Amino acid sequence: MANAGFTSSTRDIPAVSAVPAHIAIIMDGNGRWARKRFLPRVAGHSRGVDALRDVIRACMDRGVGYLTVFAFSSENWRRPAEEVSFLMQLFLKSLQKEVERLHQNNIRFRVIGDLSRFDPALVSMIRDAEALTAANTRFNLTIAANYGGRWDILHAVDKMLERHPDKRSGFTEEDLAAGLSTDFAPEPDLFIRTGGEKRISNFLLWQLAYAELYFTDTLWPDFDAAALDVAIASYRARERRFGRTSEQLVEKAAPESKGTTPAGRHA
Ligand code: IPE
Ligand code: IPE
Ligand code: MG
Repeated sequence: MANAGFTSSTRDIPAVSAVPAHIAIIMDGNGRWARKRFLPRVAGHSRGVDALRDVIRACMDRGVGYLTVFAFSSENWRRPAEEVSFLMQLFLKSLQKEVERLHQNNIRFRVIGDLSRFDPALVSMIRDAEALTAANTRFNLTIAANYGGRWDILHAVDKMLERHPDKRSGFTEEDLAAGLSTDFAPEPDLFIRTGGEKRISNFLLWQLAYAELYFTDTLWPDFDAAALDVAIASYRARERRFGRTSEQLVEKAAPESKGTTPAGRHA
């Protein structure tokens, strides 16, 4: 079944909860964080890993189920070779260092993206970490590496055609979504981009259709639990209409039994 049975935000109205079930983050601003301190850009990437560790913990404490973070885009190969190579080494080292702790914390680890360009040693370490944590249920951490939203959609189309060899047209959203790299997760409720830029940079293009967008000037290495709380508070103040009118949400809430959350309004 498409999206492991999760509701598609365009086909139906998903459940709305006070705490986002799925947060997607573009962790941007590492280079500027370092430059402000007269450090090499890569020092910012190292500090970025520390920030990610804190944010994972904070998400778990707050009852978020899924965190998907953009670590390396399909366009980031355009950076200087030394920076790309540092990022790969950092990925490898961080995995080596953190996998056991992720596992002990009952975190399921996944990497989404086109791994074919990665060093085989890194790929096998990723696959081992995914296998080790495959039965974990408390939290889902997904790293987008050599990921691109357009790549994801094209890949999903290929999978859809493979699955339906005799079909040429008449596909549904569910047929396509079933092949997306995030098929295991509900669509993100909250999208966060640090570092001040207000763009999606080819992140989860399909999946963000109805995500609440939150942009902050805070640079990623400075983003912490308190900053996450500000983002979640902003999310809670939003009215998630999914195409409906505000009045409809109020009407829909009224006849329902006590204790239920108005559709589109947070508890
Ligand atoms: C994000 O920080 C990390 C990656 C893209 C790997 P940047 O490296 O883009 O930092 P800025 O945007 O140059 O400050
Ligand atoms: C987006 O950040 C990708 C990651 C954070 C991994 P960039 O810094 O690469 O994005 P652009 O180039 O400014 O759009
Ligand atoms: Mg950047």
